[in-house]
Amino acid sequence: MKLAGKKALITGGNSGIGLATARLFVAEGAQVAITGRDQNTLDEAVAELGSSARGYRVDVTIAEDRKQLFAALAKDFGKLDIVFANAGISGRTPTGSTDEAIFENVIHTNLSAAFFTVNSAAPLLNDNGSIIFSGSVHNYLGQPGVAAYAATKGGLVSMARSIAADLAPRNIRVNVVAPGAIKTPIWKRGPRANASAEESAKLAKAFSSAVPQGRWGEPEEIAKAVLFLASDDSSYVNAVELIVDGGATGAPFGAPIIQDVFRPLSSAAKSAEAHAD
Ligand SMILES: NC(=O)c1ccc[n+]([C@@H]2O[C@H](COP(=O)([O-])OP(=O)(O)OC[C@H]3O[C@@H](n4cnc5c(N)ncnc54)[C@H](OP(=O)(O)O)[C@@H]3O)[C@@H](O)[C@H]2O)c1
Repeated sequence: MKLAGKKALITGGNSGIGLATARLFVAEGAQVAITGRDQNTLDEAVAELGSSARGYRVDVTIAEDRKQLFAALAKDFGKLDIVFANAGISGRTPTGSTDEAIFENVIHTNLSAAFFTVNSAAPLLNDNGSIIFSGSVHNYLGQPGVAAYAATKGGLVSMARSIAADLAPRNIRVNVVAPGAIKTPIWKRGPRANASAEESAKLAKAFSSAVPQGRWGEPEEIAKAVLFLASDDSSYVNAVELIVDGGATGAPFGAPIIQDVFRPLSSAAKSAEAHAD
């Protein structure tokens, strides 16, 4: 087991990527503290994860909630070895029509709260620990309407480097996992909460066709990358962004949507070659 005897905090551990990671961490021998705002899904997750997990209702944007969380963790867990600062929201912030409060809420949740979670966790972390942030391919994509979200995910990468330097004397590694499009409830929240089935299907198809592997990722595929960063398997991996996106950012010209454009050209080229022989 890769995490035997380790103690981990996973924010947003009651849903999606956080919950998949909590399942994997428990299977690998860790004791896990999960947080979320929704008491029902938090209770369900703890019931499923069993006696190795405890749940804490926390809104990461509220300083008093975080204070109470870390006081409870000090009492219940003593020390921590791993922090997965994963809680996050999406949000539409198109340039020219965005309300300041919406923009600030995305920044507060995804960036500031992630920092202050780690800031409060640092004194509880054992030396040789591991911190992982949930980044995103939106650090690179340039998708319209997501300026705040993209800024938070890019910000996490530069923030992680600085924190890695802060915590280097304690050999605490700090990395970012950057998922592509992953099948989780985030796609049905916020701006897409009222999307029709037809709109959702169109979006699902569009994203699949932009990925060289031709499909969405599963939360379990991100969990495996987080396990790698959390465990000794990545003992010399520090201050990096690990992109897990089916090749969407690294090989965009391999995506079906682009291949479909080139395929007729390559057939024509083959035919021209055949005639030249
Ligand atoms: N799914 C993707 O395609 C994708 C791609 C790239 C990056 N990511 C990132 O992965 C992370 C996890 O997202 P997910 O896809 O697993 O989505 P999700 O299923 O919607 O999970 C989001 C989690 O964050 C928690 N959360 C949100 N705001 C919070 C707040 N103010 N206080 C406390 N908890 C809060 C939610 O708790 P409640 O449910 O209790 O509100 C939930 O547990 C996010 O940072 C997201 O940006 C996701």
